[in-house]
Amino acid sequence: MTHASEFLLTPPQRARWMRLDTAQLLKRFFFCERSLLISEASWIPAIAPLEVKTGLARHVWQSAQTANSLRERIFELRFPSRLLENEEADRALIDLFAAVRDSPSVPAFLLSVGRVLLPEMRDAYQSYLKASDLIADGPTHRFLTLAVAEKTEQIGAFESWIATSQSQESEAWPEAAAWASEVAKRLSAVGGVGIESPASSAASAPLPGAKPYTIPVQPARDERFWPCRFYWPDIVDPSYPYGEGIQLQLRSAISHVNEVWAVDAGGVILSAFADTLPWQWVQDSARWTYDESRHCRMGFERLIAWKLNPSAIPLGTYIYESATAAGTADIPINLLGMLFFFETKNIRHKPVRARLFHSYGDTLSEHDMDFDWADETLHASYGKRWLKELLSIRGEDSAAYDEVRKNCETLVNNYVATATPKEITALKTAADQLLNKAKQRR
Ligand SMILES: [Fe+2]
Ligand SMILES: [Fe+2]
Repeated sequence: MTHASEFLLTPPQRARWMRLDTAQLLKRFFFCERSLLISEASWIPAIAPLEVKTGLARHVWQSAQTANSLRERIFELRFPSRLLENEEADRALIDLFAAVRDSPSVPAFLLSVGRVLLPEMRDAYQSYLKASDLIADGPTHRFLTLAVAEKTEQIGAFESWIATSQSQESEAWPEAAAWASEVAKRLSAVGGVGIESPASSAASAPLPGAKPYTIPVQPARDERFWPCRFYWPDIVDPSYPYGEGIQLQLRSAISHVNEVWAVDAGGVILSAFADTLPWQWVQDSARWTYDESRHCRMGFERLIAWKLNPSAIPLGTYIYESATAAGTADIPINLLGMLFFFETKNIRHKPVRARLFHSYGDTLSEHDMDFDWADETLHASYGKRWLKELLSIRGEDSAAYDEVRKNCETLVNNYVATATPKEITALKTAADQLLNKAKQRR
């Protein structure tokens, strides 16, 4: 005999989760997404192919956007509380997401993120969308639907990067496969991301085969390009003209593709200061890194549109290495200082150059320079704000941020002074040859 209630009752599908259960799940997603993007950012300088570096920068930014939407939604659901500190229930899971930072190799990183963590996030978001209430929790549905689409696209990108690298570095792959299967095993032992209660929150031992992460002292460079430290003669020879006309068009595209150093720098500083600075830092530096990756692609696309061969295009390392040459402890703050130094140094030239490109009828260079300028104004403010904040956290005078910038200028000058006559001659030959080829493309 069924027991009739004295109240109105309905099947409980829509009411599966109450407001605070929902916030608890979204908090797990936030911390996983945050941990994943910090690991991804830290690997950018270690990975050579330009498509992977710029692709990772975009993924990092997408994750930061999703994480921020999650964070805001958690605050709404828990109103008036603005506390987000306690992730203890999901500690083991979040630690595992952070552990891929200690991947033993590039293939191991690609496999563990692309085949284990990203599919896990996508599946968890899909399960959440299916099980939660579209009416009560509509705001979450909007951004998690976008996140599922982005995760699907990211998984596709990782698959193509894996396929390309598998044809090259064959010796690292068996170890990489073992690493990824270890990550998958550990993930299932802690209950996965999913939408259920955590299976285990106990801290576990480091993954077998882990290699503690260190910031690369030299950034990996795409082998298709002409490898060098200094990428144009005017860097090492002040009498060499920046140029006008076709020389300026070429110089500007070379500058843009060489902003690859800023993508590397952005990735390092995002991860290095993620636990010191507030969440807004992660958001700003994710955007910063992504913007620099777009500037890098702008240059690459223009050079390719002019039918210039990558093997003739100089791709340098000097700015990144100027920041790492001084000693490992200061690398992150030097890289942040380098970004700030170059942002403020170059910004005034950009509108002038955009107008010159307009006068040449070079709409694409004009378009790229103009969009670049809009991004850079934002970046100069990031540099100042976060350098000040870092100094004040370290108990130093926040007004000394300009000292950091000046110190970076000195570091670059010292590094440029190490250019050898042989290096300079080779660089001038490479630049002349590229310019001649460009002239033939008119
Ligand atoms: Fe830039
Ligand atoms: Fe910038």
